Amino acid sequence: MLSSRTIENKDRNKYHEATKHSAISVQIDPNYVDATTQPAAFKRYPKFFRRFPLELNNPLHRFLSLTSAITFQKQYRDGIHSLRVQPSAGALYPTEIYVQIRGINGMLDGIYHLEPDSRSIALIYELIDDGLEGYFSDDRPIKGCIFLVSCVYFRSSWKYKNRSLRYCFLDSGHHLGAIEAAACVSSYPYQLLFDFDRLALNDDLGFENKEFVAAVAIAGKAKDNKSVRKLRSPLPFVAATDYFEPNLFIEEGCKQTWVKNPEKQPIQVPKFPFESKRMLQAIQRRRSARKFHPSSIGLDDFLTVCNAMQQPISSENAAAFEIYAAVQRVTGMQSGIYQIGGGGNYCLKQGDFHDRAGYLCINQAIARDSAVVFFVVSDCRNYQVALQQAGLVGQRIYLAATYLNFGCSGIGAFFDDETQAFLETDLNVLYAIAIGNLFDRDRIN
Ligand SMILES: Cc1cc2nc3c(=O)[nH]c(=O)nc-3n(C[C@H](O)[C@H](O)[C@H](O)COP(=O)(O)O)c2cc1C
Repeated sequence: MLSSRTIENKDRNKYHEATKHSAISVQIDPNYVDATTQPAAFKRYPKFFRRFPLELNNPLHRFLSLTSAITFQKQYRDGIHSLRVQPSAGALYPTEIYVQIRGINGMLDGIYHLEPDSRSIALIYELIDDGLEGYFSDDRPIKGCIFLVSCVYFRSSWKYKNRSLRYCFLDSGHHLGAIEAAACVSSYPYQLLFDFDRLALNDDLGFENKEFVAAVAIAGKAKDNKSVRKLRSPLPFVAATDYFEPNLFIEEGCKQTWVKNPEKQPIQVPKFPFESKRMLQAIQRRRSARKFHPSSIGLDDFLTVCNAMQQPISSENAAAFEIYAAVQRVTGMQSGIYQIGGGGNYCLKQGDFHDRAGYLCINQAIARDSAVVFFVVSDCRNYQVALQQAGLVGQRIYLAATYLNFGCSGIGAFFDDETQAFLETDLNVLYAIAIGNLFDRDRIN
């Protein structure tokens, strides 16, 4: 008979269990889609909402733009895709950004929708005595910016079906990481919020069942002790895609995989070992490596990446994950599986596992030829937050690798159970991130 503890764990992991890849599952459903049926990748509010172009000589506008900018146009077989500062599983970009601005000279107090393709913000709601703070446990008015990351899940479920529940949250975490990086290079203090009245906010923003709020980033300070109330009138529904197919598993999963943070921790500020000007270039240059040169990276570079990714998360929610690494090609380090953190990196088993890593990541050569594959694992107690934090860590790894002039790629596709067994852990594997040397022709200097 199952103990009550096992039942609780089983229930908690239901969404992870149901979205596992295995050697059989990827054969049965290889995720082939007709590219011409891809839903629209950009949400546009109707023309009558006022728009403000983002002027890059204005520091606030530059900050806003940097959180979501298009940094490369790539030609695919089906047409041109706009790639952004943040990576996204399958380049499907389910996340949208809304920003509330309050008490900033020259800007109307309001909630704006960020439109990366037109490099502008659309004012969708003007504030009076209300605002996003009304949905937070600390409802004092924030002078500055409040970013809201939402997921338009159909953009991802169109291709990845139920597994896109994971990708939506990983992508949301990457977008939080892009906001973090933009805040760091713009010297804006910030914190991330995962606990708020998300269901009420979803309703009031008019998202219906098609878009859901995932997380908040606050770049500003509480102004006084007044309370801000919830939005005085709900916003109209505006479709974020040109057509929509519901997925009830994902809609349920978005609600069920979030739990209230049981213990608040004091906010800690991360200190990244990077120089601001070069970091800005790294944000703008970041891309996913499509191929690695199978050679070694330096130990110092590896340790710098480890340092960057382990910086504290500026949030009252404690880190809900651990990190393992398959170290394959690092000069001066024994190849093997390491546990990262806790004041050092501990070798759990020695050996040359690069072929195995390639196989586990569904035979992807980027995992086989990389220098290191990091694996983010979690007990999934707060599944939604753990996935977002894994995405945030992924963004830090991407930016650190780009800063150091080597390559990186997120890997969301792996054989779940076999990877977990390979790492010899009880924790579930949420995400893999590979780093390594690029071929000279792929370097962007
Ligand atoms: C959550 C997530 C999962 C990903 N999984 C894979 C993967 O399994 N294999 C791969 O080659 N790329 C993967 N990528 C990289 C995306 O394909 C890439 O971000 C996208 O094509 C956009 O390109 P860019 O990162 O160069 O801007 C992943 C990215 C993210 C954020």
